[in-house]
Amino acid sequence: MIAKEIFQSSLAVRDPISFIRENRPFETSSVLTDSLSVKDNRTGKQYEIPIAEDAIRAAELRKIKVSDSELGVLSYDPSLANTASCRSKITFIDGDAGILRYRGYPIEEIAEKKEYLEVAYLLINGEFPSKGEYETWSKNITYHTNVHENVKKFMDGFHYDAHPMGMLVSSVAALSTFYPDAKQIFQEQSRQLQIYRLVGKIPTLAAFAYRHSQGMPYNYPRNDLSYSENFLSMMFRPPGYSPYHPDPVLAKALNVLFILHADHEQNCSSTAMRVVGSSHVDPFSAAAAAIAGLYGPLHGGANEEVVRMLEEIGSKEKVPEIIRQVKEGKRLLFGFGHRIYKNYDPRAQIIKKMADNVFGVTGKNSLLEIALELEKTALSDDYFIKRKLYPNVDFYSGLIYQAIGLPVEMFPVVFAIARMSGWLAQWQEMLLDSEQKIARPRQIYTGYAERHIDSK
Ligand code: CMC
Repeated sequence: MIAKEIFQSSLAVRDPISFIRENRPFETSSVLTDSLSVKDNRTGKQYEIPIAEDAIRAAELRKIKVSDSELGVLSYDPSLANTASCRSKITFIDGDAGILRYRGYPIEEIAEKKEYLEVAYLLINGEFPSKGEYETWSKNITYHTNVHENVKKFMDGFHYDAHPMGMLVSSVAALSTFYPDAKQIFQEQSRQLQIYRLVGKIPTLAAFAYRHSQGMPYNYPRNDLSYSENFLSMMFRPPGYSPYHPDPVLAKALNVLFILHADHEQNCSSTAMRVVGSSHVDPFSAAAAAIAGLYGPLHGGANEEVVRMLEEIGSKEKVPEIIRQVKEGKRLLFGFGHRIYKNYDPRAQIIKKMADNVFGVTGKNSLLEIALELEKTALSDDYFIKRKLYPNVDFYSGLIYQAIGLPVEMFPVVFAIARMSGWLAQWQEMLLDSEQKIARPRQIYTGYAERHIDSK
């Protein structure tokens, strides 16, 4: 069937653009005549480079050369800002329109109607689970929430003020030493087991890191609770026999935050997961690299920076001065701007709406007023308008985490819990993609030409 027919027969049920994107093979076919004509002015030669899915194959550029002994033309793309390194069916973002979809479902619908573990299943397996599939999936994840008792010992070895993200990176990497079977990455059953382990254990490790920093005994997982309730219980259940019932509004809010952070296609940490995983290392080691990527203040560390910044601003009256400093290039406005979104981040909108429910239970976060003023001032200022800088997911999420009772250091940790399912989905897709090999970018060498060590 030619592409046009496939397209028409599907119009009734599918969004045409995503249908074409999903079904158009990269290799040119008889209906795909799109190409790029490139003339090399060094030689006068003309090249036809096929365009498919709005992309050219970078390897095609290698044909462009002055002599056969050359490597050919490279594309230079620092930070990979305009390079597609994979074909993916997991997450779709239209940054100009402010659209985010997981496996085709709009984030707004998912956040309203689903549990985080259903979303994790969707990301990893491609569809929402049936009732039976969901029971098996949650049972298996719940069954793997406990960690080896030795984990507590090396947690104890961290300094009392160690950052919990540092503890999380290390403890997730350490899990690979407990599960040598995780090296069997091309065995489906083994991959599945490691997925249960990583999704199951990451809240436990995160909560242990927090309890260690507080000098409090670790709380073991409770398998009768939902994923977000269990995390709150491991974090906040007081020592001794004290019944602890996570507030349903806070547990629901955390569930939504987990969903909103679950995947975001080829960001820094997912790229780390794919790149490190492409060496065929076990998924615990690859996930530790992804968590390290998330730790930075330009990525998952930004929500922490937003709260620190709002605390530093201290009052609404100081907002114009901060905006002035940002415009003079003296500081960044954390929680603003995004490589992909050049419009309001849809996740920020959902969080902003949810904030009232949370503050209804916890009392208003005093920083909210400053955040709202900052947003209003920035969005009416030419500097931000011209650069299309809007609030991103991190602008309001920190205020909710703080209201829930999480210290700022734990914000990126919560992000990491949520993102684990996305990382695993990206990792598995990369492994099963026959076009993927070990990641190995090229460089443009700008150092010395050959020189020799002075014999004196
Ligand atoms: N505050 C002030 N100016 C900014 C900001 C900001 N937050 N973000 C971008 N700009 C300016 C930047 O200085 C540049 O100006 P000019 O054209 O005059 O040089 C212009 O906007 C374009 O910025 P860019 O640095 O080329 O944009 P990028 O795509 O490389 O960076 C970003 C994206 C998210 C790293 C950046 O916007 C940033 O540093 N934001 C603050 C940190 C933050 O909130 N990060 C969380 C991102 S969302 C969650 C996640 O993905 O982890």
